[in-house]
Amino acid sequence: MVIGVPKEIKNNENRVALTPAGVAEFRRFGHTVYVQVNAGLESGFEDEEYIDAGAVMLPTIEDIYGIAEMIMKVKEPIASEYELIKEDQLLFTYFHFASSEALTHAMIDRKAVCLAYETVEKADRSLPLLIPMSEVAGRMAIQEGAKYLEKPQKGRGILLGGVPGVKPANVLILGGGIVGTQAAKMAAGLGAHVTIMDISLNRLRYLSDIMPPNVDTIMSNEYAIREAVKTSDLIVGAVLIPGAKAPHLITRDMLALMREGTVLVDVAVDQGGCIETCTPTTHENPTYIIDDVVHYCVANMPGAVPYTSTVALTNATLSYALQLANKGWQKACRENDELKRGLNVVNGKIVYKGVADAFGLPLDDVTELLQREEEEEVNF
Ligand SMILES: NC(=O)c1ccc[n+]([C@@H]2O[C@H](COP(=O)([O-])OP(=O)(O)OC[C@H]3O[C@@H](n4cnc5c(N)ncnc54)[C@H](O)[C@@H]3O)[C@@H](O)[C@H]2O)c1
Repeated sequence: MVIGVPKEIKNNENRVALTPAGVAEFRRFGHTVYVQVNAGLESGFEDEEYIDAGAVMLPTIEDIYGIAEMIMKVKEPIASEYELIKEDQLLFTYFHFASSEALTHAMIDRKAVCLAYETVEKADRSLPLLIPMSEVAGRMAIQEGAKYLEKPQKGRGILLGGVPGVKPANVLILGGGIVGTQAAKMAAGLGAHVTIMDISLNRLRYLSDIMPPNVDTIMSNEYAIREAVKTSDLIVGAVLIPGAKAPHLITRDMLALMREGTVLVDVAVDQGGCIETCTPTTHENPTYIIDDVVHYCVANMPGAVPYTSTVALTNATLSYALQLANKGWQKACRENDELKRGLNVVNGKIVYKGVADAFGLPLDDVTELLQREEEEEVNF
């Protein structure tokens, strides 16, 4: 298969969809990989490294879209890319269709095959291509929180781990999933006193087993949160209710219970936030202060560490991309339900319920569509 990797052009997106190591894997299976000049530069990968791995560099984004059967990207195509997309071209990237009707209609019109990273789903309902970014954001939440606890950043002026003779900071983590677990590990490793709250008792049992002694687990409820915020120095919002807006676990009135310089990092801000006073911020201007409480609410935290994020993402996407390239998308999706669940828009038809429901558009059955494709292959 001919694979194309364009340079990301969405504002502030520094990741790239394929590393030189990924190119070498595609080459090992006999595929051809075209990478746009400078596509990997912001993630720390020079063109020479791609060439050494067997890629062919092309100067423009038009060249890449013009030649590739499968486009591998990070972010959804933006308006200027729509017209470059060809009928039947396979696009493997994050789409988040439900948040953009314009993108949905554009992909229907282009008759492309859109396989979305965010809906590739395992039988246990986990989302293997979202997990790496949650891991990055969870770990970053503590790094950023520690920074904003410093006095010059308007924080409480407390070192997370304390020093001998001085007690450490209290870190409260709301939600003990992927983000929460990674945040807890980092905070505990730095010596902070950590509390994780979750509504799943099974999850709390698991975390209680694996976490070090400076991590407590507490059942999440309004009473417990109200008590905990009074003595917390850093609070990380990491809850998720799949398919729904995050619940406001920290309400505006609770800010009055907090000490001056408490830092809130709402990682869940991309789903509406679990802290009522959080609104999305950017890496250029990550924080603001309300009632003497520092709010950090960056919606794309992994964007600040493109090297780590790129490698983490491609570690997860590559095995799926190889299946698509080795078998063709139709056979790969027929044989692997995880990939099949990633199909969102195919040749002008919506095949993912969440997208059809979001805009009241008709839904095609993906299994029937794959069968039709198979019959056409046989007849051909
Ligand atoms: N800002 C960013 O850059 C960024 C990056 C990655 C992920 N995220 C977001 O971080 C959030 C968490 O993602 P995740 O991968 O850890 O999800 P996850 O599903 O692994 O974990 C969510 C946890 O929240 C718990 N939960 C649900 N309701 C709760 C409540 N009322 N109180 C306490 N816990 C509750 C669930 O039981 C679950 O354990 C998501 O909104 C995700 O989109 C943001």
